[in-house]
Amino acid sequence: MDSTILFIAEAADALGPAAELLARDLGYRITFAGQETDSAEVIGRGQVTLVLADVENSRLDTVAFLLRLRFTHPDIMRILVVGTHRDIALREALARTAAYQYLTKPLQPEQCCLVVRRALETRELSRRHRRLVRELRLSADSPILRPGVSPRDGSGPGRAGRDGSCHAAEAEPHATALHFERLVYASRAMAELCDLAREAAATDLPVLIEGETGTGKELLARGVHYHSRRRTSPLMVQNCGGIRDEVLQSELFGHKRGAFTGAIGDRLGLFRAADGGTVLLDEISEVSPAFQVSLLRFLQEGEVKPLGSDRIVHADVRIIAASNKPLKPLVAAGRFREDLYFRLKGFDLEVPPLRARPDDIPVLAEFFVRKHGGLLGRRTARLSDEVLDRFKAYRFPGNVRELEHEIRRMCALAKDGEILAPHHLSAAFATLPEPETTDHHEGNGATLKEMVERLEGELVGRILEKHHWNQTKAARELGLSRVGLANKIKRYALSEGTSRTE
Ligand SMILES: Nc1ncnc2c1ncn2[C@@H]1O[C@H](COP(=O)(O)OP(=O)(O)OP(=O)(O)O)[C@@H](O)[C@H]1O
Ligand SMILES: [Mg+2]
Repeated sequence: MDSTILFIAEAADALGPAAELLARDLGYRITFAGQETDSAEVIGRGQVTLVLADVENSRLDTVAFLLRLRFTHPDIMRILVVGTHRDIALREALARTAAYQYLTKPLQPEQCCLVVRRALETRELSRRHRRLVRELRLSADSPILRPGVSPRDGSGPGRAGRDGSCHAAEAEPHATALHFERLVYASRAMAELCDLAREAAATDLPVLIEGETGTGKELLARGVHYHSRRRTSPLMVQNCGGIRDEVLQSELFGHKRGAFTGAIGDRLGLFRAADGGTVLLDEISEVSPAFQVSLLRFLQEGEVKPLGSDRIVHADVRIIAASNKPLKPLVAAGRFREDLYFRLKGFDLEVPPLRARPDDIPVLAEFFVRKHGGLLGRRTARLSDEVLDRFKAYRFPGNVRELEHEIRRMCALAKDGEILAPHHLSAAFATLPEPETTDHHEGNGATLKEMVERLEGELVGRILEKHHWNQTKAARELGLSRVGLANKIKRYALSEGTSRTE
């Protein structure tokens, strides 16, 4: 049992023979503290799972201390130790501190051990419960389509399966859906990317995931975590965008009470809370230069220095950083540290936009029809071919997220069992030009994004020609990975002998 119990009382011997029983028979580490500073110090070390606090302590306002602890470290169990002449304040103390139990003095060793053991079991159960609730929320995305298995039953209009999921019928044959954790795909670009992600998962190196919004960066990060040796430890996600620097620093590195205005208690910080696991830093392009320095130190040394503390502690955490803005131009502009950029790029995963991998559209569409139809309890039919054609012709600036939202809306509008047809589409899709006449790259009135993409395609083509299509050399010159370059070749439909400068 790897658990530290903090006993707070006026004198260490107040625990009596219970101390020996807890330590010897149950293997708990017992640490004693008499007052606020040493109690906070012990808790700051991050090992305490339970506090046993004597309310009759002239050196500490125990109830006020436990009340603060309740908010700063809600996962530390609290047990009150009270005198025999219980006064009416006990009920209020129990309510305010949300204590698990109270024990009366003199402590009965057997009873004390039993209550401590039960408290820690409850703590473990609630930790698992929290983890499962999160998993369950995500399991709405769970693989309804199994890898390698075609879900079509081909028996007329869609009908609900026994498990409540719905089976599409008469769908056009299309590629088999593959999975990387909860990521669904069929395209070659995604297959290569997921292979690389599996390689990354087998190491402890940091991973940088880049890609437009809604392409599935977070799902890919989850895939890396759940394919790694860290899968039984937490995956914690921190969005770094739009957060004050000191708040972000304290979220990740923790803080000591009073380190800044509003820091009313000690905070452990995500890096230590995720010890043994993975931390996903989303929107990494948004962080301040000061934070970049702290993060670099953490990546180099694995060291965490909570704000307002001189103590340095270690945390064993794998960092995955994600960004929907390419970091390289920020490095070139001096807005992102180059050393940090290269540190983060232990593995460099670039998720292509949905429009560059049309082969994923049918399997994703089918997956979302089942998911959202299933959630609505519908006998959901399939998407009509026309709808699929429109999807394939659309640019999807919001990528897979946009596709999912569109299908969710269609499922809500369609009647039970009705085929999802163009009239269920939202305005963005209803006004699309016919797919055959659509030229997204060349049209007049192109948006800035479209013009930039066109330029990118031209540049990539030119560099490839320059290196006689030696992709390794071209990728090096462009500062891309081989997979990144392959994605661009596919996205801009480049091939040897064709330059996009026409
Ligand atoms: N390949 C996929 N298979 C299944 N669902 C996907 C896939 N890609 C994305 N999604 C779904 O699309 C939504 C967006 O995915 P995710 O949050 O991973 O994107 P993101 O790239 O992190 O976006 P952002 O940059 O906006 O944070 C989620 O609901 C996710 O479940
Ligand atoms: Mg994200």
